[in-house]
Amino acid sequence: MSDERYLTFALCKGRLARKTLELFEKVGITCEEINDPDTRKLIFVNEELKLRFFLAKGPDVPTYVEYGAADIGIVGKDTILEENRKIYEVLDLGFGKCRMCVCGPESARELLNSQERIRVATKYPNIAKDYFYNQKNQTVEIIKLNGSIELAPIVGLSEVIVDIVETGSTLRENGLVVLEEVCPLSARVTVNPVSMRMENARITELLEKLSSCVGGC
Ligand code: PRP
Repeated sequence: MSDERYLTFALCKGRLARKTLELFEKVGITCEEINDPDTRKLIFVNEELKLRFFLAKGPDVPTYVEYGAADIGIVGKDTILEENRKIYEVLDLGFGKCRMCVCGPESARELLNSQERIRVATKYPNIAKDYFYNQKNQTVEIIKLNGSIELAPIVGLSEVIVDIVETGSTLRENGLVVLEEVCPLSARVTVNPVSMRMENARITELLEKLSSCVGGC
């Protein structure tokens, strides 16, 4: 047991990490110090189970997993699609549910059915490109933004946006609507392909525990 190496988890900072840690606790994986709001530590260890955890910005999680700096990463499907890294997606954790949608004012609906070269603002240029170019066969201009995407059609930067819709309240409060749905999203477990082979027994056991708890246990 003592020569067992650490399994390292990359968690996506914020609400997803809190939900993930709650789920881990339910299956007996605990990490006290990560819950300390005042800590400046970046990496947390459970010596008994030989596990390490760190928090990273969402888009960096698949990068850590692809390079094997983390064996396992927990991140939203939106980030997995956008980053397109060489990692395995192995489990849908069922929380963090939302949708990737094309949104805009109702008046933009007809533009989506035309072959007009409209402007699309988004934090997810790869997802938007794939949707418009490969699925809809519509040539559009994609404008990358870093947040508050709903502003773009309001101030005339773009006709529509591709963005995450959870409750829909941001859209409602800004006079925008869902025009088309791109895909459903939720938190996923990702694994480094080499780790999956080398640590198969430990990772499989962990995934079984987690999947038996998905949706409540
Ligand atoms: C996300 C997303 C929408 C909003 C959707 O933004 O980009 O703006 O949440 O949630 P709702 O449907 O429940 O209103 P986030 O708060 O992550 O910040 P951002 O604008 O900086 O991307």
